[in-house]
Amino acid sequence: TVGNSTNIVWHKCPVGKLGRQKLLKQKGCVIWITGLSGSGKSTLACALSRELYSRGHLAYVLDGDNVRHGLNRDLSFTEVDREENIRRIGEVAKLFADAGIICIASLISPYRRDRDACRALLPDSTFIEVFMNIPLEVCEARDPKGLYKLARAGKIKGFTGIDDPYEPPLDSEIVIEPKVGECPPPAAMAEQIISYLNDNGFLQ
Ligand code: PPS
Repeated sequence: TVGNSTNIVWHKCPVGKLGRQKLLKQKGCVIWITGLSGSGKSTLACALSRELYSRGHLAYVLDGDNVRHGLNRDLSFTEVDREENIRRIGEVAKLFADAGIICIASLISPYRRDRDACRALLPDSTFIEVFMNIPLEVCEARDPKGLYKLARAGKIKGFTGIDDPYEPPLDSEIVIEPKVGECPPPAAMAEQIISYLNDNGFLQ
């Protein structure tokens, strides 16, 4: 029995992951960007996918906000629904990585155990956690969607960082931090990740 299904068998195809990686000249992986709302996750995801594209590499962005328009439209922001949001995106990201694609998942993913469960789905250090270590005050001052203002006014309940928890990663592969009080520009953040991918043999 697998989950709620019985009598199901894994079906193997003749073209495998290694073949696909050779074709694409890259190693499929998941770049999991976690951080508060307004910390720049989506900006980094877009800058990174654009930079990889310009270097001839195939990446695909799974953005929390966007996936909630379709696959995860049935989910709210309660603890269990966030857990399910992250679980589904983790499973989809795993499929993309298996396809040989550099999958960039950008979602708040506030709970450590949910992120670790996604990490456990991926083999051979192909789950790369990126922590947007941007202070709440900075995210709130930016407030690109005006959501912090609504949360402070009590018009949104359970908003991450205000009246809902965010558990920062303890040992993520990459940390994005402001330097001398300034957040790094998108191109610099993307470069930091591309260096990691180069140094760890993900790009040929
Ligand atoms: S989670 O926690 O990983 O399931 O969240 P995610 O799928 O990334 O969705 C976060 C975006 O949803 C908007 N939003 C909220 N965020 C946090 N808390 C509450 N209650 C909430 N309600 C709506 C918000 O625009 C988030 O977008 P980002 O891009 O993170 O700013």
